[in-house]
Amino acid sequence: MTLGGSKNAALPVIISSLLTAGKCSYGRVPALRDVSTTLRLLSRLGVTIEKDTMGGGCLELTADRVSQVEAPYDLVKTMRASFLVLGPLLARFGEARVSTPGGCAIGSRPVNIHLQGLERMGARICQDHGYIDARAGELRGAIIPLDFPSVGATENLMMAATLARGETIIQNAAREPEIVELAGVLNKMGGKVNGAGGDVIQIEGVGELHGMSHEMSLDRIETGTFMVGAALTGGSVMIEGAWAEDLEAFIVKLRQAGVRVEEGSDGVRVTGNGRTCSTDIATLPYPGFPTDLQAQMMVLMAVSDGTSVITENIFENRFMHAQELNRMGARIALDGNRATVQGVAELSGAPVMATDLRASMSLVLAGLVARGVTEVSRVYHLDRGYENIEGKLAGLGADIRRVSCDD
Ligand code: UD1
Repeated sequence: MTLGGSKNAALPVIISSLLTAGKCSYGRVPALRDVSTTLRLLSRLGVTIEKDTMGGGCLELTADRVSQVEAPYDLVKTMRASFLVLGPLLARFGEARVSTPGGCAIGSRPVNIHLQGLERMGARICQDHGYIDARAGELRGAIIPLDFPSVGATENLMMAATLARGETIIQNAAREPEIVELAGVLNKMGGKVNGAGGDVIQIEGVGELHGMSHEMSLDRIETGTFMVGAALTGGSVMIEGAWAEDLEAFIVKLRQAGVRVEEGSDGVRVTGNGRTCSTDIATLPYPGFPTDLQAQMMVLMAVSDGTSVITENIFENRFMHAQELNRMGARIALDGNRATVQGVAELSGAPVMATDLRASMSLVLAGLVARGVTEVSRVYHLDRGYENIEGKLAGLGADIRRVSCDD
């Protein structure tokens, strides 16, 4: 099967085009709801957007006529990554007004780390009427120790620092591959970013950035999701172009569960090897086990021999799928950030409701192996992060149909 472009790489990369008046061309942009939300936001700010100039998945963005610096609530509330416009707008135009994201299904998700970092760079920040108002004559480089290696805060601060005066050092930075990709894009624009992928990132501010072109990497979370799908159904799936290095902690756990994973130069082959066995999992910042694959892995554990303990360390409320899986016959007990999953012989199909992006995917995966029909409602969550999911799964032999999309 063929993977799409990475959602979590694409969103900050597309937003980084706000940093320059030059034209930025992107390839392999996934056709996802979160990408269209980002484009709507950029268009509202005055960015010129040309689509598909070179074929599917291509975009050209030019931020030479940015007419306003406000990101409104209706766009930020549906997608937290919209908050990433704050750093670039502030760095380039000296001011920005961005709605606070508010709570969401997987926890409160505050933005304090983003704001503390910008304040250290000299921004004056106040919050009123649900908006963050940030101003800075000119941002200046600073040493910024992060309380937690937040992916979004690292991205926001890295983007802001490219146009700040002097040197910025982000300590305890997030190390995800998407951070490395964004740093690469900023450097293609003429930025001076060093150390991305490690926990200290050094950025030397420059006066101006220029346009460039970039092709998005393949989506590693989609990769992991299909790997779980193969393991669950006992199939053998070749995931073309997949890059196992970015999923090491996850692959270790799959192998412990008894799944065959073969890494080759052209991709990764995953083969379900009969009944899997339990294994404990704890989500952690990269390179640890990714929280974005926790829900999918829980389904595999739900039908594995033995009892697994899954600990969610990144988000405070990311077990909403557990109750729905229990309605399908799983035996999952929750205690704070810990789920104890006792493997059962099989799941049974049921009507279930999606609550967030990865949770909804776990319900689809459960439906693939459950006896009878599973009907997942609120599938718009899926469209935020999976491109043509029903087409891809049907192509691998799944019996799956989109019945309606207006629930
Ligand atoms: C990104 C990913 C998301 C992934 C997450 C963790 C994108 C678009 N989204 O989200 O898919 O699940 O990383 O790998 O790339 N926190 C604070 N204060 C802050 C910022 C974060 O307390 O200022 C907390 C959050 O509430 C959360 C934790 O830190 O509990 C991790 O958040 P963060 O790494 O920022 O995740 P996102 O960037 O939102």
